[in-house]
Parts: sequence; structure tokens; C-alpha cells
Amino acid sequence: MGFGAARTAGSGSGGGVAIVTGAGGGIGAAVARRLSEAGMSLVLADRSRALLDAAASTIPRSTRVVTAVGDVGDPAHHAGLVTAAEDLGGLTVSVQNAGVVLAGLSWEVPLEQWELQVRVNYWGVVHGVRAALGVMAPRGLGHVVAVASGAGLVATPGLAPYVSTKHAVVGLMESVRHELARAAPGVRASVVCPGNVRTPIAANSLAAAGVGDEDLSPVAQAVADRVRADVDAGAAPETVAEAVQAALASGRFWVLPQREVALGALDRVQRIVDGREPVDLLA
Ligand SMILES: NC(=O)c1ccc[n+]([C@@H]2O[C@H](COP(=O)([O-])OP(=O)(O)OC[C@H]3O[C@@H](n4cnc5c(N)ncnc54)[C@H](O)[C@@H]3O)[C@@H](O)[C@H]2O)c1
Repeated sequence: MGFGAARTAGSGSGGGVAIVTGAGGGIGAAVARRLSEAGMSLVLADRSRALLDAAASTIPRSTRVVTAVGDVGDPAHHAGLVTAAEDLGGLTVSVQNAGVVLAGLSWEVPLEQWELQVRVNYWGVVHGVRAALGVMAPRGLGHVVAVASGAGLVATPGLAPYVSTKHAVVGLMESVRHELARAAPGVRASVVCPGNVRTPIAANSLAAAGVGDEDLSPVAQAVADRVRADVDAGAAPETVAEAVQAALASGRFWVLPQREVALGALDRVQRIVDGREPVDLLA
């Protein structure tokens, strides 16, 4: 893992210490800025040194920041992040945010792309949460946050690997929340389910996979184009950052920054109750 030099000009870690993965991206960088404004020291991680440095440069110099390049699919990466946070004064918040999305029909998407999404979106969160709780649970203090998606509460076509991993993260975090209530009640858990958010996730995901999308079949290409258009027309990343900060203050588990996501989830459950067919949100 490549650690950047620690910026230690700040006034200390009075506001606690947060890990943010995927901090070079749209939502991660916005969350980092928000936590910095709240007085937290930061351990910022991403697979891309360039994206990470660009995001870190937007954080005020008064904030203590450590940057670390690594792969969230590697448990050793998370162990290093926790050590860095402990060295900054003690880990209090872990935001597992790194994610990738690659379009394709279930039977067409190359297995490597399917596995990459499981590795980053699911195993990345599992490893990050386990590493954080390894120090938070014995201390009886802290807050683990996972950025899932509205795709963790409803299913769309053309994104089966992404949808599966985000459903898995929602289930994971709900289980973790109940475990903490029993075994470490001072530690909180939250799951964030944003709708469309204006970020470079499409390009970043293709870069992470080392592919272009020129090989998509016409149906998959139509889904990819629609998802990109929806993301480009989505909410500002700051909307999610604000909701995360509010959840850290309130301890709230469900964090749905956009109301349409909750309404979509409600419609799904109503269809389950009524025995009606699920709705294709991209139709
Ligand atoms: N943008 C949206 O519309 C939207 C909606 C719902 C949920 N989300 C979720 O929000 C999270 C952040 O997404 P975003 O929209 O800011 O995208 P983004 O691409 O701007 O940010 C994601 C960051 O994760 C990093 N990353 C990718 N693979 C990694 C790996 N293996 N190890 C470490 N870092 C890695 C990328 O380099 C990138 O900087 C993701 O989990 C995404 O699924 C996004």
C-alpha cells in the first residue's frame, strides 16, 4: 500500500478520525470534505493516486490527512488504514464507499467484470467493516458506514453484478447493526442508499476494470447509456455527504438521501405483499 506523507499541520484530532475509501471519487471526496469541516482527521484511500491527490487538495490545510493508495479487495489494505487512523488519534468513523459499476446482461458480462464488482463492492466493504470493528467493538465506540445504493433496495436490468453486491451490502450492514446492538451497543452502523448522483463512476469503473464498453450488446449498451444519462442528471455528491454527516450525528441506520429511493423500496415491498410483478425502473 502506498501511503502519502501525513499532513500534520492541523490542530489535532479533537473531532475524531475517519477512514474514507474511494475518497478520490465524487461521493467519497464530498464526504471527506464534509468530515473535515466537522473537525475530523482523515485517512483517505483510493486505488488511484492521481484521484486521491486531487481530492486531498480540496481539503483545508488545517485538517490532518493521511492518504493511502490500495485495493479495498485486499484485507491487508484495510489493516493499514486502521493502523494509520489509530496513529492519528484513534479510529472513530469508517466510511466504506469505494465501488464500481459495469453494465452487461447477466449471461454476457465477462466473469472478470462480475468478479471485480463482487471484490470491490462486497468484499471491500466486508474487509473494511471487519477491520474497523476490530478496534471499535472492544473500545465500545465508533460508527461504521457503508455506501450501498438504491440498487441495494430495488433491482434494475443490465446491472446484475452491481445490484447483487449492493443488496448484499444492505443485508450485511443490517446484520452488523443487530450484532452491534447486542455485543457493542456503543458502536453504530449505517447503510447509505443513494439514487443517481453526479460523479465520474462510469469512467472510473471502466478504468478500474481496464476495459472500454465497445463490446456491449445492443440491449446492454442501451442500459449503460441510460444509467450514464441518469447519473449525469443526478444529485450533487454533497447531498450524500450531508446525509452521511447527519447519520453520524443521529446514529440513524438507514441513510436514503433521495426520497425517490425510499418510495421505490416501498413500491417493491407492496408488490411483494400483493403478489404483483416487480417493476423495471429503466423501462
Ligand atoms: N454515482 C451514483 O449515482 C451512485 C449511486 C448510488 C450509489 N453509489 C455508490 O457510491 C459509491 C461512490 O461512488 P461514486 O459515484 O462517487 O463513484 P466514483 O467512481 O466517483 O468513486 C469511486 C471511487 O472508488 C475508487 N475505487 C474503485 N475501485 C477501487 C478499489 N478496488 N480499491 C480502492 N478504491 C477503488 C475509484 O478509483 C473512485 O475514486 C460507490 O460505492 C457507488 O456504488 C453511486
